[in-house]
Amino acid sequence: MTNRIVKFSLFSIKGGVGKSTIAYFLAKKLSEKYKVLLVDRDYTNTIGRIFGLKTGLINVIADKVEGKYLVQEGNLRVLTLVSILPTKLPNVKEFVENVLQGIKRHRSCNYR
Ligand SMILES: Nc1ncnc2c1ncn2[C@@H]1O[C@H](COP(=O)(O)OP(=O)(O)OP(=O)(O)O)[C@@H](O)[C@H]1O
Ligand SMILES: [Mg+2]
Repeated sequence: MTNRIVKFSLFSIKGGVGKSTIAYFLAKKLSEKYKVLLVDRDYTNTIGRIFGLKTGLINVIADKVEGKYLVQEGNLRVLTLVSILPTKLPNVKEFVENVLQGIKRHRSCNYR
């Protein structure tokens, strides 16, 4: 068995053209067969809000706010990166260390 990781990025400089809609249905369909991590990187948090995520990982790290930013439904995991624009940029070194720690914590499936 191979453990291949395939990444898709959906982006456009134009708003309202269906990026979130395509990402949502693509992830749902793929998760019928594969493990999928759907990352919402847009501060509009359209995907995250569908799954009840009210904050983003970057907001938790940069603004020290509390809230759920990761959820799992079967094979599909949904991660919100940012739900509001952060008030300040985090220190890059500290930010990377925090993200790596966060990934280690969540590998044990202990979702916030
Ligand atoms: N194929 C389609 N046909 C008709 N309407 C669609 C289609 N795909 C998306 N829509 C509708 O268009 C609107 C914008 O879609 P969506 O939110 O997916 O766009 P977006 O590119 O992610 O927007 P944003 O730039 O605000 O993040 C929504 O109301 C959605 O239901
Ligand atoms: Mg969108």
